[in-house]
Amino acid sequence: MTLIPNQRHLFDIPDDVAYLNVATMGPLPLAAAEAGQRGLARKLRPWNIPDTDFFTDTKRLRPLLAELIGADEAGIAFVPSVSYALATAAQNLPLAKGQSVLLLEDQFPSNVYTWRAHAGAAGARVITVKAHGNADLSSALLDAIGPDTGLVACPQVRWTDGARIDLVAVGKRCRDVGAALVLDLTQSCGAMRFDVREVQPDFVAVAGYKWLLGPYAMGFLYAAPHRRSGRPLEQNWITRKGADDFSRLIDYTDEFAPGTERYDMGERSNFALLPAFEASVRQVLDWGVANIEATLAHRNRSLAAELEKRGLPVMPEAERGPHYLGALLPDTAPADLTARLKAEGIYVSKRGNRLRITPHLFTRDKDIARFLEALDRHLT
Ligand SMILES: Cc1ncc(COP(=O)(O)O)c(C=O)c1O
Repeated sequence: MTLIPNQRHLFDIPDDVAYLNVATMGPLPLAAAEAGQRGLARKLRPWNIPDTDFFTDTKRLRPLLAELIGADEAGIAFVPSVSYALATAAQNLPLAKGQSVLLLEDQFPSNVYTWRAHAGAAGARVITVKAHGNADLSSALLDAIGPDTGLVACPQVRWTDGARIDLVAVGKRCRDVGAALVLDLTQSCGAMRFDVREVQPDFVAVAGYKWLLGPYAMGFLYAAPHRRSGRPLEQNWITRKGADDFSRLIDYTDEFAPGTERYDMGERSNFALLPAFEASVRQVLDWGVANIEATLAHRNRSLAAELEKRGLPVMPEAERGPHYLGALLPDTAPADLTARLKAEGIYVSKRGNRLRITPHLFTRDKDIARFLEALDRHLT
């Protein structure tokens, strides 16, 4: 693992902007924006777009997305959102009456609403797991998994505070009791190592516009090998066997293309967004997820110490995502703190009573110094 030097030159971030808010939205690298603009411009002259190009971008991108999570490319589908991916997962993971779905307290709403609706329709229960006593959130989740658990839906780090879940242990416990495991890795994929072979989830959902630095409305769904022959959300033409022969599309078929492709969203061959997403993902893979993780861990370790000094506690590193800081604000903090910081060109977010600080490889020491100096002013 190596520490990566500052990469700000690859982004369009003005000198007076301290962008510490990747958990809300990662900036597109310049190369991704250019690839997207070139892709969009192709539609000016659609006669130049050959039929085969409906397939080439997804063909190139699928193995790259697989590489991010240690998967095989046949396990990857293109989705526009986490809610779409989770709806696909829910449709293919029946629950029995009396079973329970385990969620974490304060989990991202796209998860909560999906699993509430799914459990409600099946007569199953939703149980919300909280950290209690001295136990961390991960241990609380492990303790809660039992014989009645039908499904566990959780992230690698919680979006509000960065609390980390030991997914290898959770995966094993789910297999022991026969529960399905559905992961939302939106807040960690691209910034934290993860391997489907170690965790063995049933489905994984990822939105690409945060830590993968991709465009909005492009993400992916991974399905385990035994989950690849299920029912897609939509009845689409391009996911069918033989769809590349446009002259024979009216020879309707119930057969799908092999693998997880059946779950691809309609109009997946997005000529503008796919090239941008590919450029972003290639950049992340070029840096290397382990190197990104180590570099952000290093940056955040010293920032965490500075925040602690100022009476803003963050979770111990062993219990949080190394790329993710959620600093507990004092009761006296101004309600408009993030707006005041924004007025100075410093971008962070607030979730509950925590200030969420998520820098990336474009963050410089002087951005952090400016943020801490502004905090000192606004919190006294
Ligand atoms: C953990 C998590 N999942 C998913 C999303 C986005 O969900 P969707 O793609 O359904 O809009 C976010 C956005 O903040 C998130 O933090």
